[in-house]
Amino acid sequence: MKCLHPLALATLLCTSGLVFASPSLDDKEAFINDLIQRMTLEEKVGQLRLISIGAEMPRQRIRQEIAAGRIGGTFNSISRPENRPMQEAAMRSRLKIPMFFAYDVIHGHRTTFPIGLGLASSWDLPLIENSARIAALEASSDSLDMTFAPTVDIARDPRWGRTSEGFGEDPFLVSRVAESMVRGYQGEGANSPQRIMSVVKHFALYGAVEGGRDYNVVDMSPMRMYQDYLPPYRAAIDAGAGGVMVALNAVNGVPASANTWLLQDLLRRDWGFKGGVFSDHGAITELMRHGVAADGAEAARLAINAGVGMSMADTLYDQELPKLVKSGAVSETVLDDAVRHLLGTKYDMGLFHDPFLRIGRAEDDPADVNAEQRLHRDEARAMARDSMVLLENHADTLPLSKKATVALIGPLADSPVDMLGSWSAAGIPEQAVTLRTGMAKALKGQGMLMYARGANVTDDPHVINYLNQLNWDRPEVVLDKRTPQAMLEEAVRVAAQADVIVAAVGEARGMSHESSSRTRLDLPDSQQALLRALKATGKPLVLVLMNGRPLALSWEKENADAMLETWYSGTEGGNAIADVLFGDHNPSGKLPITFPRSVGQIPTYYNHLRLGRPYTPGTPGNYTSQYFEEPNGPLYPFGYGLSYSDFKVSAPKLSAERMAADEKIRVNVTVRNAGTRAGATVVQLYLRDEAASVIRPVKELKDFRRVKLEAGEVRELSFEIDEPMLRFYDASLRHVSEPGAFRVQLGLDSENVQEARFELLPRQ
Ligand code: NOJ
Repeated sequence: MKCLHPLALATLLCTSGLVFASPSLDDKEAFINDLIQRMTLEEKVGQLRLISIGAEMPRQRIRQEIAAGRIGGTFNSISRPENRPMQEAAMRSRLKIPMFFAYDVIHGHRTTFPIGLGLASSWDLPLIENSARIAALEASSDSLDMTFAPTVDIARDPRWGRTSEGFGEDPFLVSRVAESMVRGYQGEGANSPQRIMSVVKHFALYGAVEGGRDYNVVDMSPMRMYQDYLPPYRAAIDAGAGGVMVALNAVNGVPASANTWLLQDLLRRDWGFKGGVFSDHGAITELMRHGVAADGAEAARLAINAGVGMSMADTLYDQELPKLVKSGAVSETVLDDAVRHLLGTKYDMGLFHDPFLRIGRAEDDPADVNAEQRLHRDEARAMARDSMVLLENHADTLPLSKKATVALIGPLADSPVDMLGSWSAAGIPEQAVTLRTGMAKALKGQGMLMYARGANVTDDPHVINYLNQLNWDRPEVVLDKRTPQAMLEEAVRVAAQADVIVAAVGEARGMSHESSSRTRLDLPDSQQALLRALKATGKPLVLVLMNGRPLALSWEKENADAMLETWYSGTEGGNAIADVLFGDHNPSGKLPITFPRSVGQIPTYYNHLRLGRPYTPGTPGNYTSQYFEEPNGPLYPFGYGLSYSDFKVSAPKLSAERMAADEKIRVNVTVRNAGTRAGATVVQLYLRDEAASVIRPVKELKDFRRVKLEAGEVRELSFEIDEPMLRFYDASLRHVSEPGAFRVQLGLDSENVQEARFELLPRQ
């Protein structure tokens, strides 16, 4: 049934005997334009104000502000009883413009799915989309309309703490995951009561902060920007993301929040983006600290003129914009455009049609927002199982027998908060299954599980202090008061009685978070000492890694019998890891980001540009590009991950050796599960341009197929190469292909590939 917004009903105007009706709600443009015409300057500025619900302002005062038309939306209030009175206040305002309620629903809402790197490790796009769909379902039933996600910043420097949030280093993979997330959040439209609007972030290039230090500057050639860093934002926008969040960093000398080229020329003009542009937290005020604005008025003027629409947790728009517009320093058209886009997002979220679309009726409010039946545990477990990457498995150490006596040791073995990872939205640690719980359940009635903590996650007081000051409701790191020696001795005693040791080690979740950049990528000293002591017992040693970025694990690679990367695997993490450890699930994850050998090697991304003097594995020599003190190349390459099965891929067969620009080449390969278990793998297709007018990468991922095969099953796969896949940005930033030779490489990771060649013919 179509309904008429109260606004439309209330505004039947009668002037000089003529009766004007408000435009129909079905005509978005006319409806919003009409509304803007009737808004006061103060109301317009109010719509651009996004406030964080927290201690700063009492709720009563917030409602008064809303009713006065001085707030457009909130974030961080995440239940229907919290948000209903605010929407009611909006309905008391002069124009009854609805509020929207946003939140960082990054990897799940009440149910926590694996962190971004984990989702991407699955390469399973339908499952990833489903995780976002469920997040939207849960968030919308808690009255949320919008999420600040997905985070699609390409991360090539794992020192950056927010590497955990994104989907890795590769433009193609990150773009595909970005699209899937947007589709999952928004479905057919963000106006559905069970979907939420997606605001892609952080525009742009946030993952390239210098030195991996959060909030640092980004200086980047336009070619690299267009080729590698911008595509994922574009992909999310093309998939329909309703909003864009502006990055906190500067882009080539101009902060993104004041960057007219970025927000007008690129985003609006070239990409045709019509949605809302949101600042990041306090970013407009930060323009003064960046040193591009002398005072608050200048900061507000720069931001609004550049195209920042809604201002997040910042007071400068409210304070300065009315004066700036009155004095003519900011034109009313600029303000109106910002308001038009913002009201457009409210329209697209279905809020003008029904301001209470996701708030519902009070009698339907859940009695307990954290009730067990509101969770989607099965889906979370399925996603978590697929996100795990088997890095080592010597002598088939894994899967473990369920009859075994297992010593589970390590600071992350029984730490609920660390299962969730950072940005875990409304997930609560009490509902997370730890590895200890998951393994105990799996072994019940059969083998035996012994447990010792073995070490604190770190003994460094400075780090502990830092982590415990992160802005969360509880201390992040709860220390065991025993001495390191006492903990170690207990662990060794427990290990000595077991058939196998499972050591859960890695980073406390706060170590991979916003503002948590690291100078080291190895395990904290306390955990290294623990692993060395466990190794000395001579028992088989299985490492279960929990971390939010690639770590430097040379010792661990040498010394572990098996190693499973589990990231932060979410609410059902402990069950999912146990499924993999005991062989109820065959691991199939593939790394979405390269693991370096040491910090000094960074950056180590696989798709690096070609060099005049490349280091050539196997034939080291002087005067080639290398580090001489340690082996070169990654510890684990992009796309890598083992299975309990053994997959074989045949050499690629091409349908032709030459193609014209309007033709296609088929690439056929067979993939065989030569193992004894059913399993899944990801066949990856890379291309390499042999010679072009600018330096091209050594290879680039261009397609992939995730396949599930029964033991012994053989499947023929067919990929297609067409001319658009061969395009790149040339020195004039034209997106072109150039005729000549190409290599196509297929394999189960970026290094172990088999190749064939073809030629793109010149256009006639
Ligand atoms: C700051 C973060 O950079 C951004 O990603 C997040 O969405 C906002 N805070 C809101 O929490």
